[in-house]
Amino acid sequence: MEFELILVETTDRVATITINRPDKLNALNATVFAELSAAVEALNANADVGVIVITGAGRSFVAGADIAELATKSAAELEARSRAGQVTFRAIERSPKPVIAAVNGFALGGGCELALACHVRFASTKAKFGLPETKLGLIPGYGGTQRLPRLIGRGPALRLILSGETIDGTEAFRLGIADGLAEPEALMAAVVAFAKTVLANGPLALARAIESVDSGLDLPFDAATANESRLFGSLGDTADMREGVQAFLEKRPAMFRGA
Ligand code: COA
Repeated sequence: MEFELILVETTDRVATITINRPDKLNALNATVFAELSAAVEALNANADVGVIVITGAGRSFVAGADIAELATKSAAELEARSRAGQVTFRAIERSPKPVIAAVNGFALGGGCELALACHVRFASTKAKFGLPETKLGLIPGYGGTQRLPRLIGRGPALRLILSGETIDGTEAFRLGIADGLAEPEALMAAVVAFAKTVLANGPLALARAIESVDSGLDLPFDAATANESRLFGSLGDTADMREGVQAFLEKRPAMFRGA
């Protein structure tokens, strides 16, 4: 896949999307959004890919929406921009293949929101997380006011949103924003090790686990557990489930085929 502002490479079923605009700290302009959407869609359709990693080139993960692009936008244009970004991030969140953010540096504003839309976040101890939009007279507009309180609770989320303060990877890990923490030079190895653990599991089960968590979080508990039962049961029609159970009984590794 050839793009202008992102790089995509796949090794051993782990596809890595690198946002590659380091001179602007990988700020999200319209091209980056379009390319990110296209890449995730293509990787989801590619049977040779099992896990998707998103990271940034240079010293930044993503330093937010491109502020230069926002400068002259009208109210209606800002709303449309917010909706378009939300659609891209929602597609990442609903990806049937696990998406891991490898947060190597600044994850500010839209960059933090991109990381929040990923299923799992690994951070460098030197990463910088924050939602500084209120410093610009804005609010987070790519799902940040919704995903952050759902992830870490209302108080800690409002602390970050109202102050616009920046926290490092260690503090993000303590707050539960980051799910894994590594020294900068060990970050990608930690992400790949986690990806390999995930890749050993049944791909249909991974997709339905994501679906159950994603759709269930916004349902009343009883409806969410009924939904879980439906998804759990649906795996009974798959060869992978029979293989996984049989492999356990035969004390051998399972050979999943995604069917
Ligand atoms: N949008 C557009 N350009 C951005 C950007 C953004 N969100 N973040 C950084 N850049 C650009 C800078 O304008 C600068 O470009 P230039 O060299 O052409 O002037 C380049 O990236 C490097 O940034 P710089 O500010 O010089 O680096 P720094 O190390 O001094 O500061 C940050 C790093 C991340 C603290 C600072 O760039 C910053 O605060 N960025 C904005 C973060 C933000 O508010 N994001 C939310 C947007 S809604």
